[in-house]
Amino acid sequence: MLFKLTDEQLMIQAMVREFSHKVVAPGARERDRTKEFPGDILKQMGELGLLGMMIPDKYGGEGADTISYVLALSEIAYGCAATAVVMSVHNSIVCESILRFGSEEQKQRFLPRMASGEIIGSFGLTEPDAGSDPVRQVTAAVRDGGHYILNGTKRFTTTGKNSGLTIVTAKTDESLRHKGISAFIVEKGTPGFIVGHEEDKMGLRASDTTDLIFENCRVPAANLLGNEGDGFKIAMTALDGGRIGIAAQSVGVARAAFDAAVKYAKKREQFGQKISKFQGLRWIIADMATEIEAATQLMLSAAAMKDRGEKFTAQASMAKLFASEMVNRVTARAIQMHGGYGFTKDYDVERFYRDARVFTIYEGTSEIQRIVISNHILKDKRKP
Ligand code: CAA
Repeated sequence: MLFKLTDEQLMIQAMVREFSHKVVAPGARERDRTKEFPGDILKQMGELGLLGMMIPDKYGGEGADTISYVLALSEIAYGCAATAVVMSVHNSIVCESILRFGSEEQKQRFLPRMASGEIIGSFGLTEPDAGSDPVRQVTAAVRDGGHYILNGTKRFTTTGKNSGLTIVTAKTDESLRHKGISAFIVEKGTPGFIVGHEEDKMGLRASDTTDLIFENCRVPAANLLGNEGDGFKIAMTALDGGRIGIAAQSVGVARAAFDAAVKYAKKREQFGQKISKFQGLRWIIADMATEIEAATQLMLSAAAMKDRGEKFTAQASMAKLFASEMVNRVTARAIQMHGGYGFTKDYDVERFYRDARVFTIYEGTSEIQRIVISNHILKDKRKP
């Protein structure tokens, strides 16, 4: 491994690996079947510090670096991808946005409760007609004295139902394109804030994905995140970090599928020998391992750049693009290696395959990542 992890990073990885193995993984197959939200597990994750990993100690968090965070997230994804996406949106997008753009009063009000897991965060950017192009959103916020009045519908919100707080973007000035979008912290229970339709998804079934409806929802002006017009920048900055998180989820699920496939290949016999003896399968195993290693390095490299305070937008998109496409190949091959058994619910690889499918879609499709990466390359090349 190119990266030499510190003793602290290795310790966090080992601690979360054990927790994931003992607590997170055992019920994952059943939760996939019942769609039960992993509330108890998240409570324990809050106690272990996994829900405020990058929040500084003074706001009740762990003050860990991004490398430790992605190692931990990857271990949770190894055990249960549905639990990992809740952890990812909460830490990478919601906590980080409040930490980076919130006022001191907002940080003190929300971060300790988020770090402990008392409230889980969600993020409302996407709308029914504005997915890849969030500037086209139509949710509106109109100032009314000490409040903003929000109207509109957000779609595909991870943890929409089970979150206690959401960061929602809305237009405060229609004429200003992306500069007319603002971000608000809205707490559950605010009158006019309604959880709408819950999706019945192919994978990540224990994590709820819902519409969030705002009907004349009065949000205190004190809950404006950053300044009016900062909403798009806040969302894009949050997604930079979030995309490293999707790479970490991808690496975790890929490793789980790979380990299951190797275990099966070493046990299953056909034509009088273990199927792992066949060169056809050995080459597949080598390719899977190489791709997982490459994705891991991209994930760690983007995380290290973020920790060093460097601009990491393109590297986050590269890590997300490669890792999410990689896990789709790896989980498909893991099923192939299991033969007919891989197509049944008796083996976890079919769940890994379904869970991984959305990784090339959410937090920016592969096509959007390619736009971000090529924009950076071409803009750089124009520099004198
Ligand atoms: N960091 C900070 N600012 C950024 C930025 C970044 N990474 N990327 C862009 N910006 C700023 C630009 O600097 C620019 O600001 P100025 O005008 O002040 O210079 C502004 O944003 C507009 O930039 P662009 O002209 O490049 O924006 P665009 O409209 O062309 O869109 C895009 C760019 C990359 C395509 C963007 O729209 C995008 O990422 N789309 C995908 C959205 C997405 O990922 N959605 C997923 C939602 S979350 C989810 O999946 C569910 C969940 O629950 C988490």
